[in-house]
Amino acid sequence: MLHSVAAQPDQAFAIDCRGLRKTYPTRPPVEAVQGVDLQVHYGECFGVLGPNGAGKTTTMEILEGLLPATAGQVRVLGRSWDSDAREIRQRIGVSLQETILSDDLTVQETVRLFRSFYRQAWTVDQALASVSLQEKANARVNKLSGGQKQRLAVACAVVSDPELLFLDEPTTGLDPTSRREVWEIIGRLRAQGRTILLTTHYMDEAQRLCDRVAIFDQGQVIALGTPEQLIRSLGGDHIVRFTCAPVATPQQVEVAEEPWLERLRQLPTVSLVEAEGAEIRLACQHLPAVLTALIDLVRQEGRVLSDLVTRGATLDDVFIHLTGKRLEGTPES
Ligand SMILES: Nc1ncnc2c1ncn2[C@@H]1O[C@H](COP(=O)(O)OP(=O)(O)OP(=O)(O)O)[C@@H](O)[C@H]1O
Ligand SMILES: [Mg+2]
Repeated sequence: MLHSVAAQPDQAFAIDCRGLRKTYPTRPPVEAVQGVDLQVHYGECFGVLGPNGAGKTTTMEILEGLLPATAGQVRVLGRSWDSDAREIRQRIGVSLQETILSDDLTVQETVRLFRSFYRQAWTVDQALASVSLQEKANARVNKLSGGQKQRLAVACAVVSDPELLFLDEPTTGLDPTSRREVWEIIGRLRAQGRTILLTTHYMDEAQRLCDRVAIFDQGQVIALGTPEQLIRSLGGDHIVRFTCAPVATPQQVEVAEEPWLERLRQLPTVSLVEAEGAEIRLACQHLPAVLTALIDLVRQEGRVLSDLVTRGATLDDVFIHLTGKRLEGTPES
């Protein structure tokens, strides 16, 4: 029982929000969302990335009809929360950042409760099968592992057979195996033609699952595109990371000297040079040419090169370049 998710001609986007603002009336007020435009196509898996406090959950909750916006227009599945709330609610599935499920219910009872909110829905067995939790049907929620609880939260979100799914940090805090299991579940839901809006702190997750991503920072979208487009915007496919001390005064290691960085920018095909403490990061197109030129330059200047690592550029590099921050949970690479 799958909904047909073909776009109507007058409903070009599954989510269309323009000029979205949210100010929490605290003292002082918090401008959590400051003019966000997002258009998500039908059938797209769209990722919202950003550091803590960037406004991801606030934006999601407005789109989910759980929070009123301070300003801006929101259309979900071509409808408006003001006039079509009942209809939208029947057509979406929501998994919140922190799902509070009753510890005393069993897995089966929990899904049955969520199912009761919808006119048309999967059976409990179908929902549990979609997240591979059938063998835990009679287990109490407080006996589940973190990964199993997360899968149960996804089961509760999909039991309505939704056209549009909101998943706020579906894999945060999970071990690598459980994360992969949730990725597979999301991959299957996406292959069924559903539209998915998810938030994540994991760049590898976004790169793997999402057709397009928006990077949020301080309540604004600071970059938008496919993962490939964003990585290409760095101007180079390779990252070279190293530390390099001037021989004479090793204490200068902490200080990234601007003339030295400028000489690094002149190396062949280098598009970006960034320093973070003693560490320098280059993005470049032609790795062998850069390595040869870098070693020559280091030798000419009498410096000592250490801890040199090369790897392919990732969304992490885009994120660090744009925000100057490393995302929580992102290992240094
Ligand atoms: N109910 C609230 N009242 C006041 N301020 C709030 C409230 N909820 C969130 N905020 C503030 O709004 C800003 C955006 O919060 P939000 O939860 O949307 O961020 P987020 O991007 O989801 O962060 P995280 O990655 O930590 O989940 C933060 O500064 C936060 O402190
Ligand atoms: Mg959040």
